[in-house]
Amino acid sequence: MFKKMQISNMTTLYKSGTPFNTGAVIVDMDNNNFEQVSNVTFFTIEEGSNEISFIYEMAKDDVVYGLGETLGALNKRGKRYRFYATDDPEHTPEKESLYGSHPFMILDGEKTFGIFIDYPSEIIFDIGFTHKDILKITIFSKDFDLYIFDCDEKLTIIKEYFNLTGKPYIPPKWAFGYQQSRWSYFSEKEVREVANKYRELGIPLDVIYTDIDYMDSYKVFTINKETFPNYEGMVKDLKEKGIKVIPILDPGVKIEEGYEVYEEGKKNGYFCVDKDGKPFVTAVWPGLTHFPDFLNSKVRKWWGQKYKVFTDMGIKGFWNDMNEPSIFYTPKSLDKLFDLLKDLEKNKEELGIEVFLAKESFAKISNNREDYRSFYHKLDDGTLINHDLVHNLYGFKNTQATADEMKELLPNQRTLLLSRSSYPGLHRIASIWMGDNKSWWEHILVNIRMLQSLNMMGFFYTGADIGGFGADASAELVVRWMELGAFTPFFRNHTALNTRPQEPWQFDEESLNIMRDIVRLRYAFLPYTYSEYMNSVKDSNPFVKPISFVFENPRSKDIEDQYMYGESLMVAPVYEQNKKGRYVHLPQVKWLNWTASKYEERKMKVYEPGDYYIKADLSEIPLFIKENSLIVLSEPMNFVGEKDITELTVAGLVTDHALYNYYDDDGTTYNFVKGDFGTIKIDVTKERNDFKIAIKKDDKNNMLKIKTIHFEIYDSDGSVVKKDMLI
Ligand code: GLC
Repeated sequence: MFKKMQISNMTTLYKSGTPFNTGAVIVDMDNNNFEQVSNVTFFTIEEGSNEISFIYEMAKDDVVYGLGETLGALNKRGKRYRFYATDDPEHTPEKESLYGSHPFMILDGEKTFGIFIDYPSEIIFDIGFTHKDILKITIFSKDFDLYIFDCDEKLTIIKEYFNLTGKPYIPPKWAFGYQQSRWSYFSEKEVREVANKYRELGIPLDVIYTDIDYMDSYKVFTINKETFPNYEGMVKDLKEKGIKVIPILDPGVKIEEGYEVYEEGKKNGYFCVDKDGKPFVTAVWPGLTHFPDFLNSKVRKWWGQKYKVFTDMGIKGFWNDMNEPSIFYTPKSLDKLFDLLKDLEKNKEELGIEVFLAKESFAKISNNREDYRSFYHKLDDGTLINHDLVHNLYGFKNTQATADEMKELLPNQRTLLLSRSSYPGLHRIASIWMGDNKSWWEHILVNIRMLQSLNMMGFFYTGADIGGFGADASAELVVRWMELGAFTPFFRNHTALNTRPQEPWQFDEESLNIMRDIVRLRYAFLPYTYSEYMNSVKDSNPFVKPISFVFENPRSKDIEDQYMYGESLMVAPVYEQNKKGRYVHLPQVKWLNWTASKYEERKMKVYEPGDYYIKADLSEIPLFIKENSLIVLSEPMNFVGEKDITELTVAGLVTDHALYNYYDDDGTTYNFVKGDFGTIKIDVTKERNDFKIAIKKDDKNNMLKIKTIHFEIYDSDGSVVKKDMLI
C-alpha cells in the first residue's frame, strides 16, 4: 500500500511506510491530501519480506539516463548500480557503487518518464543487466518516498526534479579558474614554490589545495607547525598573487587526550555511538577515531563553527573528504584479520589457496557493511537510528554543517565547497568531484560521461581529478585531459601520493607550452562559462548536456563522448592514446568548428550536419559552435578578476538570427539575488552579405566594464565579417 499524492501536473509521490526525512526534497507537502493505492504507475511491484522491487519492461530502443556518479556508459542500460556510498579508489568497469548516491533516472523511449527514490540506504538499479529488457529497482526497505515524473520531455523532467530538490549551487566566479592540487605538498615551502612557479611560467592559476599533509598527525582542524610554520601567512601572500588556498577536511576525529576537537566531542556526546552507547571506534588516516554525528543539528553547528579557524585566515573554500564515511578498519575487524594471520602461520609450510583467499579478507576490513551496521546516530528528538539505514546521508549532512555555518562565518559570501560523498539535496549547497580515478585513458571517457550524468542530478559544478589521481601519468595523457578539463566547470589537476608529479612543467617544454595555452584558453572562455553557468542555474537547465537532450535525431542517442557546454558550444575531446583526431557527429544543424589551441589563433570552418573525422594535434581540442548561436571570449588573465573585462569578442555562425544573453555580477556575493547583476543582449541578424547587430545593455548597478565588443561572425560559406562596436 502506498499513500499517493499528486505534487504537480506531472509529478506523483508514492509514500511507502514512514520514510526518514532526508532533506533532499524542499517542497512542503500537504499530508492530508493522500489517497491510498496499491499500484505505482508504469511499474509492476514485487514484494519480499524486507525489500520491494519495481519492474518495468523496456522497449528495444529505450535509453536510460541519470544515476549521477556511476560508472559505465551514459546510457545506463546493460549494467547494475548499487547505491550505498563507498570509498572505492578502483574505478574499474564492473563496480556498482561509488561515493555518491543518486537514485534519479529518466527512461527515454516508447514511453518517457523519470523516477526518483528518496531513500538513504541500499537501492539497486538493475537496468537490463540480469535480463536485457527488464528494469528492476530494488529498495531494501519498506520506508521510502518514490516520485514519478510523467512527461515526454527529458529537460522538463530535470527541471521538475530541481523544483522538488532545489536549484544547483553557485560557487564564486574564481572557482571557474584553474586549480592545482597534489596529495604530498608536504610543506608550506613546497606550496609556495608551486604557486610561484605558476606565476613565473605565466600559467594562470586561481586555487591551490593543501591535502592532509598540512595537518598535525592528520587531526582535523589542526596545522602542522613544523612543516607549515605560517599557514595564515601563506594564505595571505598567495592571495596577493590572486591564488586562493583550500584545505582538505576529514570527518574522523583522532582519539587523543587533550586534542580539543576530541575532548569537546566526547564531553558533549557529539560522536556516533556503538550498541552500548559508547563513542564508536573506527580508524582512518590518524589511526583510531570517532565519527561526528552529523545527523544531529547541534553537532552540525559545532562542527561548522570549527571552520572559523580557516575563515579567520581569509579562506573561502573547503574540501570535505572521506565522508562516506570511509572506514579503514575497526578494532574488531582488525582482530579478525590477526586471527586469520595466526591461522595461516600455523600452516605456513603448506599454504596455497589460503593466501589467495586471505588477500580478499584483508580487502574486506575496509568499508565493511558490518561496521556500518554497528553504530548509531542520535537524532534531534533523541531517537537512535542505526547508521546503515541512513548511510548515504553522512556526506550530505557533513557538508550541510559547513554550508550552514558559512552563512554566519562569511555572511553573503559565496564559497567553493566540495564534498566527496553526496545525496540529492547536496547539489543545492555544494558540489562534488569524481573521486579517486586513475591516470588511465579509459578514465578520461569515464569523466566525459559522468560529467553529463552528474549535471542531470544538479551537480553542474563538477569535474574529475585532471591527469588522474592514482598511477603515473604520461605527458600526452595529462595534455589531453587538460584539454577536457578546460571545458568542465571544476578544472583541477590533482594526483596521489607516490605518483609521478603532473603539474604542467613536470614533463617537457612542448607539453608545458601546450598546457599553458590550454589554461589560457580556459580563461579566455570565462565570460562565456560564467554567463552560461549562471543562466543554466536560473533556467534549471543543465550546464552540460548530452547532445541527445538538444537534438532529436536517433544518431545523437549513440553519442556519449561529445557534450554541450552551455547552450552554444559542443565539445568533442580527444581521449585516446596517440590519436591525432577523432570522429565527431554534428547533429541536425550547421556547426562552426574551432579546433582550438591558442586563444589568439581562431581558425574556424563551417560544417554541414553529418559525421566527420576531425584532425586535432596534441595541442588541439575540437570545439563546435551551434548554428545561430554565439560564444563570448575575453583576453586571458593570470587569475579571475585580475583585470576588469573591458573588451569582449563574440564569435558565431549566423545564417538567420542569433541572440546571446551575456550575464555578469560581482562573482563573490549573493547580491545577484536582489538584482545586482548586469546583462547585455547581443542580437545578430543576417542581412545579405552583412550582419545587423543590436545591443541592449541592462546594468543598473554598473557591474559591467565592457567598452568594446569585437564581432567575428561567419556565414554558411565560411566567410567572416569582423566588426567592432563601442558600448
Ligand atoms: C582521498 C581523496 C583524495 C585525497 C586523499 C588524501 O583518497 O579522494 O582526493 O588526495 O584522500 O587526502
